[in-house]
Amino acid sequence: MVKVKKIAIVTITLFPAFIQRYAEFGIIARAILNKRLSWKALDLRQFGLDARQTVDDRPYGGGVGMVLRPDVLFRAIQLARGKSKAKTRVILLTPSGKQFQQKDAVRLAKYDELVFVSARYEGYDERITKFVDEELSIGDYVLMGGELPALVIAEAVLRNVPGVLGKDESAVGESFSDRMLEYPQYTKPETWIVEIRNKKHETRKKKFLRVPGVLLTGHHANIQEWRIAEALRRTKKRRPDLLDSPKH
Ligand code: ADE
Repeated sequence: MVKVKKIAIVTITLFPAFIQRYAEFGIIARAILNKRLSWKALDLRQFGLDARQTVDDRPYGGGVGMVLRPDVLFRAIQLARGKSKAKTRVILLTPSGKQFQQKDAVRLAKYDELVFVSARYEGYDERITKFVDEELSIGDYVLMGGELPALVIAEAVLRNVPGVLGKDESAVGESFSDRMLEYPQYTKPETWIVEIRNKKHETRKKKFLRVPGVLLTGHHANIQEWRIAEALRRTKKRRPDLLDSPKH
């Protein structure tokens, strides 16, 4: 029997319900149903100290906000890692991490288990970084916490786990997988007539928006050539940096 690839994703968070709800939709829900994915949210609060289940404290040296305690985070990470021999990667989400890219999505899809540590933005005690495998950021902006970054990365990774996407949803040939943005797509209607209203002048004008003619010819070679040219034109205009980046 062929062994199917299965991946486990555990997210350590103060908002487990948020992470859990996310898995009720679309391709993620289907992957769980098909036993390709095990999806768990681990409530950081349950590792808190004392009767109040404290998870954070004021920063040494002063400053605003609260800082997550390393001992609390450590206990959660230890439990998430489990005892199994599974190939596990523990990832801390932080705006100071290395920026997540498509090549990381491909790389992380090869693990058996991913543990996301979703800290909140004000911070975590730096000593916890000794017990994670990597620190990742999803971009140069600051969010309230690591929950959305964890979900963003989980989704990008899952698209590269064999069997998670259906045949028609294949991740091959998409933007970034070949260092180019995707070519534009069109569907019906062939000619879309849009009525544009100018509120100020109280006029109406019809606009005819047509599907590029080459796509209607059925000439596959020409269509392919057009798509490549469009992808290249877009990439040059919007993301010229991609064209100089090394292939992954
Ligand atoms: N936490 C807050 N902002 C973040 C970001 N941009 N990436 C990863 N984790 C974060």
